Amino acid sequence: MMITCRTTHLLMIAVALFGGALIESELSIVRAAAGRPVQDTQKKADGSMSEWDGVYTDEQAKRGAPLYSQFGASCHGPDLTGGEMAPALAGADFSSNWNGLTLGDLFERMRTSMPQNDPGGLSRQQNADILAYMLSSNKFPAGTTELGRDTEALKQIRFQSLKPQ
Ligand code: HEM
Repeated sequence: MMITCRTTHLLMIAVALFGGALIESELSIVRAAAGRPVQDTQKKADGSMSEWDGVYTDEQAKRGAPLYSQFGASCHGPDLTGGEMAPALAGADFSSNWNGLTLGDLFERMRTSMPQNDPGGLSRQQNADILAYMLSSNKFPAGTTELGRDTEALKQIRFQSLKPQ
C-alpha cells in the first residue's frame, strides 16, 4: 500500500484523537482519586486504621464499664475526667497525649503500669474491655468487631485525635 502524505496525515489525526481519549480517561480516574478525602485513600492504600473506624463494640464497652469502676475510678474519677493524682482518661488532654501513637501503645501502657496500686494486675481481656469503654467515653464510634487483646494487632490502629475528613 502506497503511504501517501494524505494517509500519513489521517493516521496522525487518528493517533492524536485516540491518544487524547486515553489521556482523558486516565485524567478522570486521577480526578476521581484526588476527589476522595486523603484519609480515605490513605486508609485504602496502606490498610491502616484509626480509632475512628469503629474498632470496638458497644457490648464490649458495656463489659469494660464495671471493670473501670472497680479498678480505675478511684484515681481517674467515675467519669474518667481525672482525679487529684491521676490524669483524665477522656477528653482533649487525654486525646492529644496519645495523638499519633497507636492503640497498642495505650494498651501496653495500661497493661504494664495500671492500676497503679496493682500494676499488671488485670488480664489482657479486661484491659481490652476497659480500653473499649475508654474509646466509647471519648465518643469514638463503635463498630461490629470487638477490640482484640493482641498488642501487635492493636499497634496497627492509629490513635488520631481529630476525626478524618
Ligand atoms: C482500670 C484501671 C486503670 C486504667 C485503665 C488506667 C489508665 C491510665 C493511663 C492510660 C494513664 C496514662 C494517661 C496519659 O498519659 O494520658 C494513666 C496514668 C496514671 N494513672 Fe492510671 N489507670 C488505672 C488505674 C489507676 C489507679 C487505680 C491509680 C491510682 C492508684 C492510677 C493512677 C495513675 C496516675 C497517678 C497516672 C499518671 C502517672 C503515670 O503516668 O503513671 N491509675 N493511667
